[in-house]
Amino acid sequence: MSPVVLGIETSCDETGVGIVRDGVLLADAIASSVDQHARYGGVVPEVAARAHLEAMVPTLDRALADARLRPADVDAVAVTAGPGLAGALLVGVAAAKAYALALGVPLYGVHHLEAHVAVDTLEHGPLPRPAMALLVSGGHSSLLAVPDLAREPVVSLGATVDDAAGEAFDKVARLLGLPFPGGPPIDRLAREGAATIPFPRGKAGDGTYDFSFSGLKTAVARWVEARRAAGEPVPVADVAASFQEAVADVLTAKAVTACRERGIDTLVVGGGVAANSRLRALAAARCEAAGITLRVPRPGLCTDNGAMVAALGGLRVAAGAPASELDLAASSSLPLSA
Ligand code: KG4
Ligand code: ZN
Repeated sequence: MSPVVLGIETSCDETGVGIVRDGVLLADAIASSVDQHARYGGVVPEVAARAHLEAMVPTLDRALADARLRPADVDAVAVTAGPGLAGALLVGVAAAKAYALALGVPLYGVHHLEAHVAVDTLEHGPLPRPAMALLVSGGHSSLLAVPDLAREPVVSLGATVDDAAGEAFDKVARLLGLPFPGGPPIDRLAREGAATIPFPRGKAGDGTYDFSFSGLKTAVARWVEARRAAGEPVPVADVAASFQEAVADVLTAKAVTACRERGIDTLVVGGGVAANSRLRALAAARCEAAGITLRVPRPGLCTDNGAMVAALGGLRVAAGAPASELDLAASSSLPLSA
């Protein structure tokens, strides 16, 4: 029987426990503290850490129950060691060590971004080597070259130099009076609007694989303020559609360019912003035109979850990769080569 790998994710505001056997997802239990952060317009680290502490054991029990497994059936424990919120990571890492030690099974500390890429294998099977990954969420916007998930670290080709893509959605939603998290309401509203306002495409065509969204956010704020100052109504749906278009345009343009320049023919898009309907549509169109195979996991697997950690742990176990020591540290700024 193939090994059962349990994955724990606590880097931000979701307590996730996933269970994977032989590339098959058996359980994906999640508890989110997002409602507790909504009134602050962003994730409050201490609130998130406390919520993880409360949710950890019940979420893990639920995952085991969903998979119809007992603790003794678990053959390895994987956990997000970083990057993320220090206090939040610490809860997951401490829990993973405790379970690994109590069950007498190996512990695998994994990188959060690599896990975001690995989750796609649960839906679309083994990843061609090499592949390209575009990860866009509230905390990160990265373009990654992925040589071999099980054996080699992914290589960062570029990242945001300021706000993450999801952060830009959240901030723009806030200034438009929409709820947190801002991605879903902007996505919905944009369908009723037209992308006619020419907002800036930060760092587009600058020859790097980096992104910038803070200038775009400021441009939207200025545009809205000017309307309000002139006593004119703000066409909120058009602003949402135009902002969303600017984000989707730069992200997909750089991802496709990176694939072309590196001769890579598979692009994985992940992270919470990968749920965005315009980003998905534009990525599909541009990849098709460029002969690139696009892989986007279903939205529930794009956002933070335990399945992604279990997926990567499973690949490591199958490849015979060395386990982590029990003094594994939670690292808020864990580098990709770790
Ligand atoms: O991956 P995730 O759940 O958590 C982080 O690691 O940050 O991503 C959350 C982010 C939020 O900023 C949220 O606004 C954004 O993903 N998001 C979206 C959509 N759904 C979630 N952004 C754009 N369009 C969406 N449909
Ligand atoms: Zn994430």
